Formats: sequence, C-alpha cells, structure tokens
Amino acid sequence: MKKKTCYITTPIYYASGNLHIGHLYTTTLAWTLANYKRLCGFEVKLLTGSDEHGQKIAQKAAAQNLSPQEFVDKISQTFLKLWKDFDLEFEYIRTTDKKHIKVVQEVFDYFLEQGLIYKDKYEGLYSVSDEEFLTKTQAVLKEDGKYYHPSSNHLLEYVSEESYFFKMSLFQEWLNEYIQTHPEWLAPEKSVNEIKNNFLNDLKDLSVTRTNVSWGIKVPNDTQHTIYVWLDALLNYISALNFSFKNSSSEFKKYWSEGDEIIQFLGKEIARFHFIYWPIFLKALNLRMPTRIQSHGWLITPTGKMSKSKGNTIDPYQLLEKYHPEMIKYFFASQIPLGDDGVFDEERLKAVINADLINNYGNLVSRTLKMKSNSFNKPLQYQETTNELDKEIDQAILLSENTFCNYFDKLEFDKAFAAVFSLSTKLNKYIDETKPWTLKDDLNRLEQILVRLLNGIYAVSTYLSTVMPKKMEEVSHSLGNMEFSLKNIKNFSKFDNIDTAEAFIFFKRLK
Ligand code: MSP
Repeated sequence: MKKKTCYITTPIYYASGNLHIGHLYTTTLAWTLANYKRLCGFEVKLLTGSDEHGQKIAQKAAAQNLSPQEFVDKISQTFLKLWKDFDLEFEYIRTTDKKHIKVVQEVFDYFLEQGLIYKDKYEGLYSVSDEEFLTKTQAVLKEDGKYYHPSSNHLLEYVSEESYFFKMSLFQEWLNEYIQTHPEWLAPEKSVNEIKNNFLNDLKDLSVTRTNVSWGIKVPNDTQHTIYVWLDALLNYISALNFSFKNSSSEFKKYWSEGDEIIQFLGKEIARFHFIYWPIFLKALNLRMPTRIQSHGWLITPTGKMSKSKGNTIDPYQLLEKYHPEMIKYFFASQIPLGDDGVFDEERLKAVINADLINNYGNLVSRTLKMKSNSFNKPLQYQETTNELDKEIDQAILLSENTFCNYFDKLEFDKAFAAVFSLSTKLNKYIDETKPWTLKDDLNRLEQILVRLLNGIYAVSTYLSTVMPKKMEEVSHSLGNMEFSLKNIKNFSKFDNIDTAEAFIFFKRLK
C-alpha cells in the first residue's frame, strides 16, 4: 500500500549570527514530530534552512569586511554543523540557492501578470532587524520621539521609496472565511485571535520590494527593485520541493499538491507572516493550503524573550558540553505546552532529566534486566494470568498507544510525553507491589511479572524513540535487538523467543 506523506517545516533562520536554544526548540519540535509520523508509517520530509537576504545581513557582512555571499556561506555552515552536532536530520534550503531564486522570480512575474502587484510609493516605518513594515498605529512612539517595534522593541526607520505592492486587500474576505471554516488550520487560537483583531479587519496591501536594499533577489525586469525578504523567504517552503509553474516536480506533487499532511512550525512573533501573507500567496498561486500552521511560544529568560539583539541568548553548545543531545531534545520536546512561553532554566532541565529519564525510565530498564538475568538464562514466555495487578498492567500497556497517539496527533507534545512517563511510573509501581525480588523460588510467577515489565519497557521505548532515537537504539540492542514499532506493542508474546541483555545503564545520574 502507498504510504501517506507528511511534509514538516520550520522557519528558515536568519543567517545573521549564531543560533541559540530558541531555534533549537523549534527545530526539535519539528524533528520530533517527523519521527512520530514515521513511526505511524508516514513517508516524511522535514525541511529547515536559512534566510540569507536582506538589509540586516548585508550590514552584518559589511561589519566583518565580507561580501554578503561570503558571510552567509560561512554562517550557514555553522547552522548545519549545529544541527549535525544535535543529530537533527532534515533537508536544507538556502534562499541563495539557485533553484530558490528562480522560483521567487517566477512567482513575482506571475503575480505581476495576474495584476496582483502594482507599483507605487512606500512611505512609512520599517524595522531592519525584524525586516517588517509597520504603520504608525502599530508602532510604539516613545518619549524620545522615535518609533519602536511593538514586540521586539527595535528602533524603526522612516522609509520613503518607490515600491511594488501586493494586493492583500483582495484576499481579506477569503482569508477570514477560510479561517472560520477551518478551525484546526491555524493554531493556537490565542495567536489567531490576536492576528484577527489587529490585522484582518483592515488588511493593507503589502510592500513587496525595496529600492534601497541591494542584497536580495532582483525583480526580473526592474533590477533597481529587490524583492522583499518575506516574500522571498516564505517561498522556501515550495522552492525546496522544486515547485514550478510549468512542470512541477514529482516531489512537489508528492509532498504538496497531492500530499496528505503539511505541518508548518514557527514562533509567534512571525505568526502574522504565516497566518496572513503566506496563505494569501498560496491562494494567489492556486495552491492548496497546509494542513496546519502552528505557532509556538518563546523560550524566555529572566530578562525576557531570548533574542540575539538583547544579548541574553543561551548557546546550544553550552548545554552540549554537559548534557547528551537527546537529553536536551527530550527537555524541549516535552516540557512546554505548545503555544505557551517556557522559561528556560538549567536547574529545571537537570531536574527533569534526573526525574524522568534517570530515576523513572532508566531505573525501570536496569532493574528489570538485572532481575531477569539473575534468575533466567532463557527467554520469558508470556501467559495470561488471573492476577489483578497483572491484568491492570496489561491493560495500561494496551491503552497507552491510543493515549500517546491522540495527544501527538493534536500536537500536544507535553501531554503525550507525560502519558509515556505515567506508564513508566505505573511499571515501577508494579515492581514495588509485586516485589519480584521475593520470588526467586517461584520462577513461574517471577517470569510472568518480568515479561510484563519487558512489554511495558518496549511500549515506553517505542514512544521515546520519537525524541531519543539514538538512545533507544541502545535499549533495543539490550532487548535482543527488538525493533520498536507501534504495531508490536499489543503483541505480548514478542519476547517469547528473544533473550535480553544482562544489564543496561541508560544514563548516569546528573549531579
Ligand atoms: N527568517 C525569518 C523566518 C522566515 S520563515 C519563512 C526569521 N528568522 S529568525 O532567525 O529570527 O528565527 C525566528 C524563529 O526562530 C522563530 O519563529 C522561532 O521559531 C525561533 N526562535 C527564535 N527565538 C526564539 C525564542 N526565544 N523562543 C522560541 N523560539 C525562538 O524570523
């Protein structure tokens, strides 16, 4: 049977400096979901990349005496290295890739031909750091008489130049209606409401070119104009699939036009671009809408949102020195309800790792394997019993899959993992209640308890393989090279002919 497909994207990060743990958070979420979808049998493509044009990047390059191209080449290498060091695998798009530039220019021409773009003059405010146009009513006027960005606080500059505009206003009604009739499409609701209240009653046409910025993609027949970075950047999601007007690639068909699911992640500060402009560009191109556009909250520190310009960022390498990458990824994927801000605090990271991974799950695996190898040197045979505790634990294992998948399907990562650790806790409690260490002389009874623990560990490990695939490979090895798959969770006889390792240590306790 043909596999269903799922295309998952992150924002493409500005190639303007080092990435911090906020970016790591987004990429980890997308990657974890990709692993989950694969576990469910989907064929998955995960995309991330770098946004390499614009005034801010040109300024940064100049400050280092590099050409913009040299600068972004260097930065994108550091991005790729970081993702590799965190064992995050995906496909990568750069907005300086030839295939991307071609798509952006073709789309611009198409919009012009369709009469969706017209030339006028832009007069107003612009934030170079956010690469965002703002009206005076959207901006904050401070005591110094200058205008600032309402959420990032960056100083806005006054811009007056010739510009092409995209007729956003033509699509206002369509977008409002589409949002209304597709309640699961944009999330979370609070971000959708914010966008609705602030922009959707009176959607302004969007300036889509700059004349005073040269580092970017040129308008094909009017090269004084550079295409606005956001129009450029948003199109990465389809240029990466080799979209083309004439002959769209098989990849584009497979993952976009004829694909089953398209799930896009982004931070809430860029929800406006992804909830309004991106769907409108897609609509104007007659392309289907993604299944879900999901905004998430910020990682914050005691000094507010973590951001490069505030200088309060945490370098992912700082954490990598002390923690296994899968500990860090587990923390980010499991601890923040999607859509909420999350305070990052290293003490909490440590506490969560110790509690969940080491005391709960790690202990469960090592205790079980030790008890098994102390009393048996053969595989354990599962049998149904009339013991109430056995029946309860079998039931808990059987039900866990539905609970885990239901939460994951709703992108409630935190609840999905909480359910996993609740099963792990139940398994530990089952050990405490059945006291296998007192049953050394009753091997029949002991066998039935231990085989249930193995089945429980199998279920928990299968779920954890979405975020800790490398460590779960080790666990799989010690479970007799048993492969983790959802289909096998309910088969309690899977260990009948498979012998397990004598001992296993998951992680050492963190001090
Ligand atoms: N280049 C644009 C996005 C274009 S997408 C077509 C951009 N780049 S960025 O480098 O500023 O990255 C923004 C994204 O990084 C956020 O949307 C979010 O996914 C992630 N994060 C950056 N800082 C973050 C936090 N402090 N907390 C959580 N996520 C953060 O905007």
